[in-house]
This record gives sequence, C-alpha cells and structure tokens, in this order.
Amino acid sequence: MKDEPPADLIPDYTALMRLDDQVHVVLGAGNGMGQQSAHALAAFGATVVCVDLDAARAEAVAGEVKGIAWNGDITSRADVRRLFADVVAAKGRLDGVIDIVGLARAKPVVEYTDDDWAFHHDIVLRHAYLAIQYATEQWRALGTGGALTFVASAAGLLSAPGLGAYGAAKAALMSLVRTAAVELGPDGIRVNAVAPGVIRTPRSQGNPKWTDELVRANVERTPLRKLGYPPDVAGALLFFSSPLAGHVTGQTLVVDGGAGVVFNCESPS
Ligand SMILES: NC(=O)c1ccc[n+]([C@@H]2O[C@H](COP(=O)([O-])OP(=O)(O)OC[C@H]3O[C@@H](n4cnc5c(N)ncnc54)[C@H](O)[C@@H]3O)[C@@H](O)[C@H]2O)c1
Repeated sequence: MKDEPPADLIPDYTALMRLDDQVHVVLGAGNGMGQQSAHALAAFGATVVCVDLDAARAEAVAGEVKGIAWNGDITSRADVRRLFADVVAAKGRLDGVIDIVGLARAKPVVEYTDDDWAFHHDIVLRHAYLAIQYATEQWRALGTGGALTFVASAAGLLSAPGLGAYGAAKAALMSLVRTAAVELGPDGIRVNAVAPGVIRTPRSQGNPKWTDELVRANVERTPLRKLGYPPDVAGALLFFSSPLAGHVTGQTLVVDGGAGVVFNCESPS
C-alpha cells in the first residue's frame, strides 16, 4: 500500500505546472488542436515529438516549438510501435502522449456503409488502443509512468444527429480511457480524455458549410456565448499532461462553453 503524504505540505504549485526535461508526444501535431497542444507543452518546458501523417506539417510544427518531427500513420501498428521505440531510443524517457487524431463523415445512421463504419473505428479509436499498448510497453521497460490524454467529443456523450458512427466511436474511446486507467493505474500511468463541443478549428474555418448563421446559432446555444477554439482544448490537454493532474485518471473533461449542461426544454415559470 502506498500512503505517502507529500514531502511539502504546501507544494510549489508553479513547479507542478512545469514540464522541464520532460518528453511529450503529440499525435496529429500538424494542425488545429494538435499544433496548439505542441505549443502549450513546449511553453511549459517540454521537448515535444510532433507526429503527423503529413511530413511537411510535422516538420513545420516541430520547427515552431523547437521539437522533433516524426512522420507516420498512427492507425498502423508497425508505425506506432516504431514511434515509441524511436522516442525512447533518442531521448531516454517518455512523460506524456496527447492524441488528437479523429474525423467525422456526417450522414444519417441508416445511410452508413460498412466502409464508413470501419473508417470511424480506425480514425477515432484504433490509434488510441495502439498508443496505449506501445507507450505502456516503453513505460514498463523504463520502470516509469506517464500520462496518456485523448481528444474525445461531446458527440460521444450526447446525441449528435449526422454523427452516429463518429459519436459511437468517441463514446467507445471514453470507455477505453476508463478501462485503461484502471488497468494501468498500478503502473503509474494516467489515462484521461477531453471532450470538446463545437470548436472552430482551421479545418472548420475552411468549410463553406460553416455559414455566419450557423456560427450565430451555435453561439446562442452556448452559455458562455462564444465558440471554442483549439487553444481552449489545448489548455485542458495540458492540465491532464502535467503533474498538477497527478491524482486524476479515468476522466473526461468537457470543453464546450457549457453547451452540454443546458436542459433543452421550456418550463412554465
Ligand atoms: N472541431 C470540432 O468541433 C470538434 C469537436 C469535438 C471533437 N473534435 C475532435 O478534435 C480532434 C482534432 O480535430 P482538429 O480539427 O483540431 O484536427 P485536424 O483534423 O485539423 O488535424 C489532425 C491532424 O492529424 C493528422 N492525422 C490524420 N490522420 C493521421 C494518422 N493516421 N496518423 C498521423 N497523423 C494523422 C492530420 O494530418 C492533421 O495534421 C479530432 O479528434 C476531432 O474528432 C473536434
């Protein structure tokens, strides 16, 4: 049994936010939330391994954060195994992994094809279980723990018409997070997720379906009366990755401006 009170009853909270000398891996670092996560981790002192399918994006973000670029496909078992082995061979340690990769193809549930279903399973879920397996392999060999943090979605917690297969895969991701947290807790490995609501990412900003009217409707439905942006998500991912969250595991933190807590009914008062 481990019951060791902290050496300092009042710790240095600023130090608990620092990631100096630490090595963190960001999966999907080339854009949006991944790029912001790489910046957030680097700002607190971490060396960031920027992983992306797009080699030029990985290089660009690694250059911005003075980190290391790594090009590969994280839905491939061989690539994920090689990635974590490379990181530990090069840096001798691994402290955290943020995995932001995920994508939705919107259509009604009755119209999904087997290909759509398999697509969501791979792009939302498959890489998460591979990352858990191969980061853990390295942590067990090193005899250290670390933090794994995934980007889920409010679509996995609430109904999201048009996003049935995506939402089902994100719900499975949050379930995987809880189970992995329980199985890996004794190894000192924490596993958490962030579930964003509507976020204006670079990808959505280039999408003509995002009309002014749609933006306005989403703002009005959100208690904080604004949309989220990638740094809002990166801040929550940074918290889970830092020693500040040292006793937090198996959790999903919703980052949605409060949209998910609104009871969508009128009451007569
Ligand atoms: N935008 C929203 O409103 C919203 C809401 C909830 C959740 N999310 C989730 O947020 C996450 C990030 O979204 P984003 O728009 O910031 O990301 P993005 O799509 O802009 O960037 C993803 C990055 O991952 C890389 N990538 C894709 N497949 C890869 C693979 N197989 N191997 C390695 N790299 C790969 C891409 O090249 C890209 O650089 C996703 O998981 C998404 O489901 C988004």
